[in-house]
Amino acid sequence: MGGLSRFKAALYNRPSMTRYQELADDIEASIKAGILQPDEKLPSVRHTSARRGISASTVFQAYYLLEARGLVRARERSGYFVVRQPRSSPPQPTAASTPEDRRFAVVDVSERVFEVLESAMDRELVPLGSAFPSPQLFPLQRLGQCLAKAARHIDPRSTFDDLTPGSAALRRQIARRYLADGLALSPADLLITNGALEALNLSLAAVTRPGGAVLIESPCFYGALQALERMGLSAIEVPTHPGEGMDLAALEAAIVRHRPQALWLMTSFQNPLGSLMPVARKKALVELVTRHELPLIEDDVYGELYFGDQRPPPAKAFDTQGWVLHCSSFSKCLAPGWRIGWVAAGRFARAVARHKLTSTLATNAPVQLALADYLESGGLDKHLRRLRQALLQQRDQMLAAIARYFPAGTQATRPEGGYFAWLQLPGNCNTQHLYRQALEHRISLAPGAVFSASPGFEHCLRLNFGHPFTPALDEALARLGQLATQAAA
Ligand SMILES: Cc1ncc(COP(=O)(O)O)c(C=O)c1O
Repeated sequence: MGGLSRFKAALYNRPSMTRYQELADDIEASIKAGILQPDEKLPSVRHTSARRGISASTVFQAYYLLEARGLVRARERSGYFVVRQPRSSPPQPTAASTPEDRRFAVVDVSERVFEVLESAMDRELVPLGSAFPSPQLFPLQRLGQCLAKAARHIDPRSTFDDLTPGSAALRRQIARRYLADGLALSPADLLITNGALEALNLSLAAVTRPGGAVLIESPCFYGALQALERMGLSAIEVPTHPGEGMDLAALEAAIVRHRPQALWLMTSFQNPLGSLMPVARKKALVELVTRHELPLIEDDVYGELYFGDQRPPPAKAFDTQGWVLHCSSFSKCLAPGWRIGWVAAGRFARAVARHKLTSTLATNAPVQLALADYLESGGLDKHLRRLRQALLQQRDQMLAAIARYFPAGTQATRPEGGYFAWLQLPGNCNTQHLYRQALEHRISLAPGAVFSASPGFEHCLRLNFGHPFTPALDEALARLGQLATQAAA
């Protein structure tokens, strides 16, 4: 094993870390299966530690993690108890979304998406369909100061120095963050882009040729569908589980059957499902693509918005052969609108750099410097802690409102990060109709049909919980629930 992979293995396979996560996952599964009932006491730390042959502190760590997930609560001098969540969460969808992989020429997706994007940008609407969290949640003043400083002090020569691959100072700061989270990327592995979307598009251009096929999730981020459409690629949709992400058996079958040129997916807090692929599955995914020599374009824009106690490792963390093109940005966690993203493209780095140089040449230099300055001066972790806390609270408030107002039989995901919940409505509810009705009531939403090139998600919708839960938001959810109830009747 090389130095880098040993480093990664050491960080991701620390025995105490996997043990407490395993214990937390086992207990969570028991709670979800109803084996441990609401208000029931968890086995004592001493008992669990003896039964499992692990230390008391490992057990405590697991219980803290379950507390962070909102599943248990400590009662003073009594121990840990399962939290009762009677009406606070609708049931979660369990089935994988589509029965088998399907191949589609992507056409006409953009029209549908443009319409939804337009409505999501209308300030007069309640932004349940928006792709962005509330601007109130970001340190805009501090960022503004960094931008003013960068504009004042920018060295004119840096316009040339910071051409692709981008500002060395910023790449160093991003690499440092990855390192702190256990992913050993060097600044030289990174290329700065105009948001994650450019990183994803450059990656796609680097590994495909028009007419080829690309594997995507079902349902998937509509940006992926638009990119395939624009580049004349066909989409093969692979079933993706609302809880655990892409079905790897179906993925392997699709690789063998369709001989795709690339795979594009999200391993953490997938848009629109909110799913989080377990670590073991991420490892298996990377092994699979490496075995088949298939480029994996990983979109990790929500990776920093986790509600657990640490950032889930991306698939890139297990990539020893360079088949993963890892893309992310600051758009969702720090500086929306600043359009700063990046890609660590592994063995495709040169091809990606060439596409960048021949398409947009470089990324806005003052903005890169301002971000590097912000990161260097500290404060990001504090901001992120607050942001995650706000999102978690808003998630619970929204799920409680859905349980209150939506028709019986509604299922909703309960994501462990990000700010999207995915709903499946009962009966013959058509969310495209619901979308139009909701607009009349000044409410936006993202109907299921924009997340797939194929039929199958007409009864689904994505709601954004990235905005403070105001009375107006509660009222909008009540109205939406009412409309859905009428449609389901
Ligand atoms: C899943 C996903 N990937 C990528 C992007 C694009 O990110 P950026 O704004 O950094 O280009 C978005 C934005 O909505 C997104 O939701």
